[in-house]
Amino acid sequence: MNKRVGQLQLIKKIKLNYNNYLLEFKADSILSDIKPGQFVNIQIDRSPSTFLRRPISIYDVNYQTDTISLVVKIVGAGSETLTSTEPGSIIDMVYPLGNGFSQPKAGDKCLLVGGGVGVAPLYLLAKEMNINGIKPFILLGARTAEDHILLSEFNKLGEVFLTTNDGSLQVKGFVTDHEIWSNSLNFNKIYCCGPEPMMKAVAAKAAKLDIDCEVSLENLMACGFGVCLCCVTKTHDGHKCVCTEGPVFNIKDLEWQI
Ligand SMILES: Cc1cc2nc3c(=O)[nH]c(=O)nc-3n(C[C@H](O)[C@H](O)[C@H](O)COP(=O)(O)OP(=O)(O)OC[C@H]3O[C@@H](n4cnc5c(N)ncnc54)[C@H](O)[C@@H]3O)c2cc1C
Ligand code: FES
Repeated sequence: MNKRVGQLQLIKKIKLNYNNYLLEFKADSILSDIKPGQFVNIQIDRSPSTFLRRPISIYDVNYQTDTISLVVKIVGAGSETLTSTEPGSIIDMVYPLGNGFSQPKAGDKCLLVGGGVGVAPLYLLAKEMNINGIKPFILLGARTAEDHILLSEFNKLGEVFLTTNDGSLQVKGFVTDHEIWSNSLNFNKIYCCGPEPMMKAVAAKAAKLDIDCEVSLENLMACGFGVCLCCVTKTHDGHKCVCTEGPVFNIKDLEWQI
């Protein structure tokens, strides 16, 4: 759908763990064709520390009820204010923004790799894959068992594998330490979202195994519509705005040292 500025009503707030919330908003227009990997840019309030809008990935969309869900991790003043907003409040957002992930081809064997709150955009992607007859493999990493969120939701959509840095749930280590990489599962597409060091490590694995790989970048943003250039990333075709030409990029196009 075309991007718009909307006044959305927060209708549900669920605490997922000590610092992550699921927020569901009722849109003020009919929602259509939102792509997995697209994001909203939220106006928090007009205080000096949260003056700029905050970009948040779209976790889920319901076209019957015209609702959008987001998963927000508290890291600073903006996410703190947003997650302490009570249901009934009206929030100003620009949506949907960004390019989104590409759709796999029928029969593709897909691996989705998420780290921390980076799992959020992978949910809608996995849901769309299911609609198109693809059951993805889903590899999720977090610091501890408690940091893993939405596992029951992901379990409905594909085969889920987990890592924790401290070994408190399933495999100890990073996502790249999981044995899924050495099993000959013959993936032909990887989709990844999480902290940049994690995405670079996954990109290195994908490049070594010659698997097509898309990553969703979370560069700091200001305007969100291609004007301020504060979100740019280097590609083989020059600098590109993550807000308008991303956030999803194929690793072949990025100037990453991997
Ligand atoms: C396309 C995109 C999608 C995103 N999706 C989600 C999402 O689904 N859920 C979610 O919780 N967050 C998401 N983020 C990150 C989110 O925008 C930031 O965490 C948020 O803006 C922080 O605002 P704040 O005021 O709470 O923190 P601030 O006070 O602005 O920052 C607090 C700390 O977090 C760091 N920080 C802020 N923004 C980022 C960032 N983008 N990447 C790395 N470090 C950052 C700052 O450097 C600082 O150390 C996304 C970002 C982008 C660009
Ligand atoms: S955030 Fe301003 S150009 Fe991308």
